[in-house]
Amino acid sequence: MYCSSSLVATFGILMGYLALVSGAGNGTVEMVPLSSDDSFHFEILRILGHARYGGSDIAEVLTAAGGIEPGNFTSFSSTFLALAERTHSSVDSINPAQDRISLRDAFFSASNYYRAADFYLHGSWADPLINDLWAKQAASFQTAISLLPVPGQLVSIKADGFEIPAIFYAVDPPRGRSPKRRPTLIVGNGYDGSQEEMLHVVGLAALERGWNVITYEGPGQPTVRRNQNLGFITEWEKVVTPVVDYLHTRRDVDTDRLGLYGYSFGAWLATRAAAFEHRISAVVAIDGIYDVGASFLAQLPHPLQDLFSSSRQQELDAAINQALASPHAPTQLRWAVEQGLWSFKLNSSYAFLNKTKEMTMEGLTERVTAPVFVGAAEDDIFFKGQPEQLKEALGSKATFYEFKSEDGSGSHCQVGAAVTLNRVVFSWLDEVLGNK
Ligand SMILES: *[C@@H]1O[C@H](CO)[C@@H](O)[C@H](O)[C@H]1NC(C)=O
Ligand SMILES: *[C@@H]1O[C@H](CO)[C@@H](O)[C@H](O)[C@H]1NC(C)=O
Ligand SMILES: *[C@@H]1O[C@H](CO)[C@@H](O)[C@H](O)[C@H]1NC(C)=O
Ligand SMILES: *[C@@H]1O[C@H](CO)[C@@H](O)[C@H](O)[C@H]1NC(C)=O
Repeated sequence: MYCSSSLVATFGILMGYLALVSGAGNGTVEMVPLSSDDSFHFEILRILGHARYGGSDIAEVLTAAGGIEPGNFTSFSSTFLALAERTHSSVDSINPAQDRISLRDAFFSASNYYRAADFYLHGSWADPLINDLWAKQAASFQTAISLLPVPGQLVSIKADGFEIPAIFYAVDPPRGRSPKRRPTLIVGNGYDGSQEEMLHVVGLAALERGWNVITYEGPGQPTVRRNQNLGFITEWEKVVTPVVDYLHTRRDVDTDRLGLYGYSFGAWLATRAAAFEHRISAVVAIDGIYDVGASFLAQLPHPLQDLFSSSRQQELDAAINQALASPHAPTQLRWAVEQGLWSFKLNSSYAFLNKTKEMTMEGLTERVTAPVFVGAAEDDIFFKGQPEQLKEALGSKATFYEFKSEDGSGSHCQVGAAVTLNRVVFSWLDEVLGNK
């Protein structure tokens, strides 16, 4: 049993606390906000940021953003769905025989906007839009990659108990029996993002620089969560090792130069996998995470942390559920809990925190053999302090780099700063692995 007055007090603390931690930015000059809702600002910036690598067009996103009501998930979703449909129907005026480029651009943007429409919807697992929007984003994306100079190739890789959907993007068109072996970047997203998104984050940037790319998803990630009904697992090497095995079967891959790139929570997944999969030559953690559970727990106010550490599951779940029942619950909290429960396939915040407790590099960093690029974002709202801990534990295997807010690259995952992020990452990769 729990006492409802202490619950109300805890709830009040939770709301106040979240209002405090969600205030982004510590530079002398702050970025122009895209919404008064910090979470919406971040997500709109993320969509806008993909413009540099073919995933959106700036003014149509800004125009749509102007109509989104802060804190209203339906408003966010329906705005991006309308933009997705409008962008998708713009292809009707394109002659495919003449303008494959415009066709490709339209399908990439439509796909990105369908994903944006899905982003805040995971609170109700039965919502048919969760699968409908995903089918649409996938169809648009697949058409778009078929229109790349070298079309992306969908592959399904067998793992122990599941299938890994992956997409291979080659630098060179298929040619003869002895193609050039290229360094290859294995790219994974995190807590909420798709492999499709990663083409715009780093994939096209890698191809331009002579790297092949393979993007993939494992349990908990969008397509596997939907099609195979699997939540996140801790043993991420079970996902990465089959991908590496697959790359060893290809004649266009230089298996002595395999980079493993993890984005957001995917940075932890990649670093974890590298402790067990030693055929990886370099790891890129955008940004570095040492202990997932500790950093999620630290985002809760102390009374809730205490409920967790004293194993009071019912009370912790009740406090969080009560906070979410309020229409004024901060977007960041609502989204983080809803997305976490959906992607981990759990129905209790306590069980979620309990599961993420396993996700630490403690005792594993000694086993990592590859050099690791540990990125850090000056104003990270999710994993502040984690890159420093990872760097510390990895010692001389780590190269630490802090992205600064005054350069506009201080947000979580350097969202909106794709050019800066790729400049820094590929300069490190070239230094570590070379690229001939
Ligand atoms: C903001 O930056 C200053 C100077 O680097 C630092 O002293 C201060 O603690 C920072 N504040 C927050 C809230 O991070
Ligand atoms: C949220 O937005 C939707 C779609 O724009 C609108 O129909 C609904 O009334 C809004 N909800 C609230 C509580 O304002
Ligand atoms: C929550 O999940 C557990 C484990 O999957 C299941 O046994 C339980 O019935 C679920 N509870 C509710 C309320 O859905
Ligand atoms: C907490 O995690 C342990 C394994 O680490 C598991 O045995 C236990 O069932 C989990 N408890 C809950 C409530 O999820």
